[in-house]
Amino acid sequence: MLRQGRLSSASVAWTDMERCGPRRLDPFPGALAGAAHSPILAVMFTKETYVGRRDVLAARLDSGLLVFPGNNESPMNYTDNCYAFRQDSTFLYYFGLDQPEVAAIIDVDTGTATIFGDELTIDHIVWMGDLPTVAARAERAGVMDTRPLAAVADVVAEARAAGRDVHYLPPYRADTSLWLADLMGMAPAEVAQGASLDFVRAVVGQRNIKSDEEIAEIERAVETSVAMHVAAIRMARPGMTEAHIAAEVGRIAEAAGGRTSFPIIATIHGETLHNHVHVNTLSEGDLFLLDAGAETALGYAGDLSSTFPVAERFSERQRTIYELQLAAQVAAVDALAPGVPFRDVHFIGARVIFDGLKDLGIMKGDTNAALAAGAHAMVFPCGTGHMMGLDVHDMENLGEVWVGYDGEPKSTQFGLKSLRLARPLQPGFVVTVEPGIYFIPQLMDLWRAEGHCADFIDFDELDKWRDFGGVRNEEDFVVTSDGARRLGPHKPQTVEEIESLRSNIG
Ligand code: GLY
Ligand code: MN
Repeated sequence: MLRQGRLSSASVAWTDMERCGPRRLDPFPGALAGAAHSPILAVMFTKETYVGRRDVLAARLDSGLLVFPGNNESPMNYTDNCYAFRQDSTFLYYFGLDQPEVAAIIDVDTGTATIFGDELTIDHIVWMGDLPTVAARAERAGVMDTRPLAAVADVVAEARAAGRDVHYLPPYRADTSLWLADLMGMAPAEVAQGASLDFVRAVVGQRNIKSDEEIAEIERAVETSVAMHVAAIRMARPGMTEAHIAAEVGRIAEAAGGRTSFPIIATIHGETLHNHVHVNTLSEGDLFLLDAGAETALGYAGDLSSTFPVAERFSERQRTIYELQLAAQVAAVDALAPGVPFRDVHFIGARVIFDGLKDLGIMKGDTNAALAAGAHAMVFPCGTGHMMGLDVHDMENLGEVWVGYDGEPKSTQFGLKSLRLARPLQPGFVVTVEPGIYFIPQLMDLWRAEGHCADFIDFDELDKWRDFGGVRNEEDFVVTSDGARRLGPHKPQTVEEIESLRSNIG
């Protein structure tokens, strides 16, 4: 099934699109005659962007072919009933075509790029609408050479017969693994192992540094994301379900011309870090945690978290933990600068949380020793942030060790093993900052039973908070030459700002 451009939806915010410049509204130059009733609104950067990106990539590899499988439709419950199509982000980055059933190859030695795809059948056109020819689509990405999809096998076979390297990235979808297995003459189980580390490192090195036009696009995603959060903070009422809030948050993302950048986390059980179940009913005494972001039509992500009381005001206990989490976030944000390892940023936040909980009698002992032992992971069992770009966790499919650690091994310690980014920051990195405080009853019981980190935790005091829930605020930043800049408009998150949005909810 082929999908028409999402921007043909009647819910598109036309004024926003115009603000983004005429490149978004250009029709394809080679559009098929007779397709006037199904307009294709290309959502791509200019072809120079893709040509430039491919040139940089090719210069980073010594020789051989680089194979780019685009994503295919993914069935939900039968072949013609699919999840929303999402193109592979690396394919989007180098070729921009947001359609299924296309692939591409860059020949590093000749510097040429080829897009492989088939013209639509009449059945495709009848059911799903028309698209320009493959050549016309490829031309938008500055690719002049196109061939049928099946020709990928011939090109790869010829290269392999000539003893040339054929590089591909680790696949994350089963159908892509099978396609690569056929192409490379491998068993499917061998495909992941055969992925090209040189290719991974070249892509990561390039995509980790965002260009100005990417940052502008991410900023648009964050702008929509802030609107999603403000709407949720304003609308929550006792008696609503989590699904009411999630539905409105998702609506705003789609109305802006894109969608959400990951499944919405909208929950009164913020202690569950990625809670995607929205069945609970809100009560006056609950804290509500929203972690949601928009993805633009070009595929760039925003990722924000907010926590707010279902009542008009925070309770004393809620406010205490909320302000501690906010202090940790502010301290972590203040530390963002080129050259600073994000691992240090993480521990700056963790230290604020540990020391704050020590003041409350929940934690105890020497802070340095506690942080080294991972005692803070009792309430902060994850990382302070991650890279963000075309993926909300940018390039996680290529391996966190390469994206966030530059090849250094990750810790295996509980908590620290979930830190996705540790490497020194560089200008152009886009990162989230999202320390959190989570009271997870099962984890409390487990560590108490094991005596784990007992020198640093007063389990009786901790137990008094077992039904508290969790708190997270998250914002997005670009690292600059001398610090970092918050992306998008300000997200209300001080106690005063939240209570002001929550006042008069009736
Ligand atoms: N916002 C979801 C995450 O960062 O994992
Ligand atoms: Mn995040």
